Amino acid sequence: MPKLVKVAQSNPYKTWIRGEGIPIIEGYSIDDVMTVPLKPWPRIGGRGAYIDLVGSDNLTGAYVCEIPPGKSLNPEKHLFEELIYVVSGKGSAAAWNEDGDRQTFQWQEGSLFSPPLNSWHELTNKQSDKAARFLAVTGAPVFMNLFHNSDFIFNNDFAFKDRYSGQSDYFTSEGRIIQLVDDRGKIIQSAIPAIWERNLFQNVLDALRPSEIIGLEQMWKGGKIIHMVLSDNTMELHIGEFEPGTYMKAHRHDGGAHIIMLSGKGYSLMWPDRAPEQRIRCDWHKGSVISPPENWWHMHFATGTETYIHMALRWCGNKYRFNNDWQYLDRRNIIEYYDEDPEIRRIFEAELAKDGLKSKMDKSLYKKK
Ligand SMILES: [Fe+2]
Repeated sequence: MPKLVKVAQSNPYKTWIRGEGIPIIEGYSIDDVMTVPLKPWPRIGGRGAYIDLVGSDNLTGAYVCEIPPGKSLNPEKHLFEELIYVVSGKGSAAAWNEDGDRQTFQWQEGSLFSPPLNSWHELTNKQSDKAARFLAVTGAPVFMNLFHNSDFIFNNDFAFKDRYSGQSDYFTSEGRIIQLVDDRGKIIQSAIPAIWERNLFQNVLDALRPSEIIGLEQMWKGGKIIHMVLSDNTMELHIGEFEPGTYMKAHRHDGGAHIIMLSGKGYSLMWPDRAPEQRIRCDWHKGSVISPPENWWHMHFATGTETYIHMALRWCGNKYRFNNDWQYLDRRNIIEYYDEDPEIRRIFEAELAKDGLKSKMDKSLYKKK
């Protein structure tokens, strides 16, 4: 008869971040990535804090990191994808794989890039008088929990040449805009209409400029949104720009999204299915991060007068699908404006009134056709 032993249930990712010796910020949102308190981070060589929000759902992880003035972080490589958004400062980065294929590029506030999977990368702060700060969103929880061996994750010599082989234009190319088709070449109607594949955005707000931008009218009247993939990642992101005085329909989907606010002010409401009494409100402004938990209904409200721009860094995109159905377009996962709790509209109008503003939501949206 085998011996009965009590074994503690394990989440290797959480165990690993707890062992890193830096603060771990928990909750549903972060008020401002610029003011997240950081501590020295010996492994990385800068200062950092992990962000472990409920909505990350063990799919994505996040951290904030500061590079000291004039210094470089320790070079590292890892078997998980990582999206880096620079919130302040400027500097350079080098990326190379085990075969020595190497490229360098410059970055500054607003830049977005992703070190290719398992390639070495080194980030340098080029300013001698100011720290540089970035937010990273990674796929580390899935990989850590799958292999539960950090040595395998950080000391693996495999070079993913299919993703990166040191191409001279890897970080300079404008990339391409792709439309997803099925095996007969037919456009997949239920997928995101277009995705911009590019490995470095010097200023991610520029992604909103091209005319190819696809409007997401069904989610938010007057909004525009573009989806992006960097470094041939499975992780994806989108950036959306919306008119102040409007708000997005309640909707729900899988977890793992970290939404960073790039412009504007407002608030989000989130609540578990069939439990509207548990509604949570997160006020936000430039630099806030929110993460709606899996299947929680959520809505984003843009108040004030400045354009609302957000960027959602997410697990599992459209180019590489892990599951079959695209939930955004499924009507079961959207609440139409005319079906929402009237209290929601009342709160929104009251919030605008505090600044002497009026809702720009068309009254007809609240009438069932
Ligand atoms: Fe959402």
